[in-house]
Amino acid sequence: ENTPRMPVIWEHYQECTCCSESFIRSDHPIVADIILDRISLDYTLTLMAASGHQAEAAKQETMKKYKGEYILCVEGSIPLGDDGNYCCIAGKTAKESFLEAAEGAKAIIAWGSCASNGCVQAAKPNPTEATPIHKIVKNKPIIRVPGCPPIGEVMAGVIVHVVAFGRLPELDRLGRPKAFYAKRVHDSCYRRPYYDAGLFAETFDDKNAKDGYCLYKLGCKGPMTYNSCGTIKWNNGVSYPIQSGHGCIGCSEANFWDNGPFYER
Ligand code: SF4
Ligand code: SF4
Ligand code: F3S
Repeated sequence: ENTPRMPVIWEHYQECTCCSESFIRSDHPIVADIILDRISLDYTLTLMAASGHQAEAAKQETMKKYKGEYILCVEGSIPLGDDGNYCCIAGKTAKESFLEAAEGAKAIIAWGSCASNGCVQAAKPNPTEATPIHKIVKNKPIIRVPGCPPIGEVMAGVIVHVVAFGRLPELDRLGRPKAFYAKRVHDSCYRRPYYDAGLFAETFDDKNAKDGYCLYKLGCKGPMTYNSCGTIKWNNGVSYPIQSGHGCIGCSEANFWDNGPFYER
């Protein structure tokens, strides 16, 4: 009870904010418990009451007072094209803002496929030169949590691990937490027995698709995608894309927008 809460700065660059939307829906742990009891979310333009100069002052104060101690979360990619002018906040480009915040961070979390891989903004022809954060800062530990968006419970689990243990979770060679990204969606898919038996849906609305046949012939990328969708699922464990009748589009893999087509038929 007497331990000070971990200061967190959460930046928003080129993104759609659905990573934040996913995070606030985490059910276990409930995100209110994290924000109110575990961390001190000192700066986040979507969830904080303050805005404008007041918000920027709060960030500056955290960077100064907790230098080397705070966690920096980044949602969104960073545009390097045209001197970075595609994304500016408080008179600074996203790159300037990121470098400033990263300098005093203890560790950095790259939320979602935008910050981890560039995502939709980096899709060809990548007009803004959208760049994932690990290509800009190389001297800090970075946890990559890909997905468009990542599962809320995965995001909550990552941040709680860092706060509770004071260290990074075990990461794979791409910097992803092994606890959530060690297996392919295909490995825990409930349609997998049909795949193994060679039974495939031929169209999205045929009887076989509804009966649980494998969606591989319709373009499912589950065999090439590392994520926890088949086990943790979405919406508090209710379902996930494949259970809802839609093949995996590989949203947690790099360049998934360019690696399509999403649909084979
Ligand atoms: Fe939105 Fe996807 Fe980027 Fe998250 S990773 S901010 S959900 S576009
Ligand atoms: Fe694998 Fe996709 Fe078929 Fe599931 S639906 S078994 S993830 S190919
Ligand atoms: Fe994304 Fe595939 Fe899961 S599209 S949400 S990784 S099932």
